[in-house]
Amino acid sequence: MTAVELAGITKRFPGVVANHDIHLSVRKGTVHALVGENGAGKSTLMKILYGMQKPDEGTIAIDGEQVSFSSPADAIARGIGMVHQHFMLADNLTVLENVVLGSEKLHGIGGKARRKIKEISERYGLGVRPDLLVEELGVAARQRVEILKVLYRGARTLILDEPTAVLVPQEVDALFANLRELKSEGLSVIFISHKLGEVLSVADEITVIRRGTTVGTAVPAETTSRQLAELMVGSELPTPETAESTVTDRPVITVKDLRLEAAGGKALLDDISFTIHAGEVLGLAGVEGNGQTELVDALIGLKSADSGTITLAEEEITTWATRKRREQGIGYIPEDRHRHGLLLEAPLWENRILGHVTERPNAKGFWLDPKAAQEDTRRIVKAYDVRTPGIDVTAASLSGGNQQKLIVGREMSHKPRFLIAAHPTRGVDVGAQAQIWDQIREARREGLAVLLISADLDELIGLSDTLRVIYNGQLVADADPATITPEELGSAMTGAATGHLESPTEDPVEPSADASLGTPADAPLGTPAGAPLETSADGEAKAPADGSPDDPAETSADAPAATSADSPAEPSADAPAEPRAESPVKVPSQGTASTPSQGPAKTQADADAPEDEDAPDADAPADADAPEDEAR
Ligand SMILES: Nc1ncnc2c1ncn2[C@@H]1O[C@H](COP(=O)(O)OP(=O)(O)OP(=O)(O)O)[C@@H](O)[C@H]1O
Ligand SMILES: [Mg+2]
Repeated sequence: MTAVELAGITKRFPGVVANHDIHLSVRKGTVHALVGENGAGKSTLMKILYGMQKPDEGTIAIDGEQVSFSSPADAIARGIGMVHQHFMLADNLTVLENVVLGSEKLHGIGGKARRKIKEISERYGLGVRPDLLVEELGVAARQRVEILKVLYRGARTLILDEPTAVLVPQEVDALFANLRELKSEGLSVIFISHKLGEVLSVADEITVIRRGTTVGTAVPAETTSRQLAELMVGSELPTPETAESTVTDRPVITVKDLRLEAAGGKALLDDISFTIHAGEVLGLAGVEGNGQTELVDALIGLKSADSGTITLAEEEITTWATRKRREQGIGYIPEDRHRHGLLLEAPLWENRILGHVTERPNAKGFWLDPKAAQEDTRRIVKAYDVRTPGIDVTAASLSGGNQQKLIVGREMSHKPRFLIAAHPTRGVDVGAQAQIWDQIREARREGLAVLLISADLDELIGLSDTLRVIYNGQLVADADPATITPEELGSAMTGAATGHLESPTEDPVEPSADASLGTPADAPLGTPAGAPLETSADGEAKAPADGSPDDPAETSADAPAATSADSPAEPSADAPAEPRAESPVKVPSQGTASTPSQGPAKTQADADAPEDEDAPDADAPADADAPEDEAR
């Protein structure tokens, strides 16, 4: 029985064909994955199914019946629900308020609504607590609220646009357990992800989109992630070389006894000390909400330390303003690209200036130099493969991954001495991911010091020279990336292990490039030198254990630059559109995908995501004023 049938969908934006003759058929009670490179047209297709955008051509059938949606309300009425790539909850409202917002007619706003929320939460194991403020929740909890919100409206088909991009492995396991619950109740899920290992482990069927059109379908049992990647990008993937050490003894950034307190005096960061040398990547592992955000804010100057010092090369910068830190060579790839990384309504070239207004080539002496900035934006677009019709389109009209590539390009272009890289490849496709790794490695070879924060443990292990674990605002453990497994790292992240982490029994696996091929729960492609992650390949995600930090502080400090988030203007440009290749996956496995250089290791960390009750009393974000707008 087909839940959703999209046929011949075409959608044009000025100058861009975002979707071209797309076909997608989703069976009831299944997870159907949608994969494709950045800008391939996945989000656009889903916005069409959700009634946010009208297709120029093509038909939509729900449960065998043809429909036409002119708004999300129409789609919701037919049982379609969507959780967006960038969350859209109102931070300053409670969970309950967020859930009932706009659907007050269903169950009111009082006791009945609360009961309904509890019922749904229990039924699907979502662990959502109605009275917490959304701003107090970590990303995984927010995501469960988004899912609950959709279920509350009676969704039978859920669209999840890159739900795992922001999750650590344990949270991914928990999410997949939720998805299985949904499936077993006969619901269908459309799942978008760039993590091919995850796709292969959770999906029942896969549809691949390339340059706006469907190029094939696949079943996980008969497909490897390499084949999938080839189908996605239509060519071989670059192989990241194994990283030789470039670490020097020249300290670039030294943090000593850093402490940061919440409004009530509770420590969000305590006793933080580390040094990153020229040519060194220090990877910071941790479940989201354990102080990473605060540490980054303190380093870039968005929050001032209550005690302790930060030294850049020889100079103490503890009290410096953000602008000065930037000018002196601190690069910043923020964790939330919409809030802290872009002006969504501004053209790309203005975004290229953002955060670097006083620096070359954006400024000449006292004056801005728009021409030079525009010229340089063109260079970045080319060098970083930002898929866009031009530099005058708004940042909002770029696909999520392409927005990320623009930010990375901007930051790397200023040749930072110290780069704060929070999830640098979040939402970026496998090909572009390998490219960003290469760029970071190359800069590292030239002496860049990097603080790398990533939920992707493969990335973290593969890129880092040194690993530290942050838990509850403190650095509790360190590990050698050459020997640590994602499993061990995962358990340290939940506070289960401290000190220097060693692999007691296991030898580091010396893998061959194709060590991970051929199995359904195969490694994600394009991983750096780390071990690939198998997220609960056996389908058993564990119940949340009490491994959550006491006080994950979800503070989002206000942005170095205001980010606006209104609906995107429509840019123009030339359109990529390729003929639709009729190839239901029998793709020969060939070519070299960028495979990790360590053997597969399971990550079944036995603890889970931070629970809702761990909400902190952290100072409230200043920017919690409106639901994250949908503008991309
Ligand atoms: N509102 C818009 N105005 C103009 N162009 C748009 C708009 N939305 C999307 N596009 C363009 O349509 C194409 C497909 O974008 P889409 O967001 O669907 O990609 P995606 O497959 O979701 O990519 P990603 O993996 O990076 O999220 C891109 O070229 C994008 O720039
Ligand atoms: Mg997208």
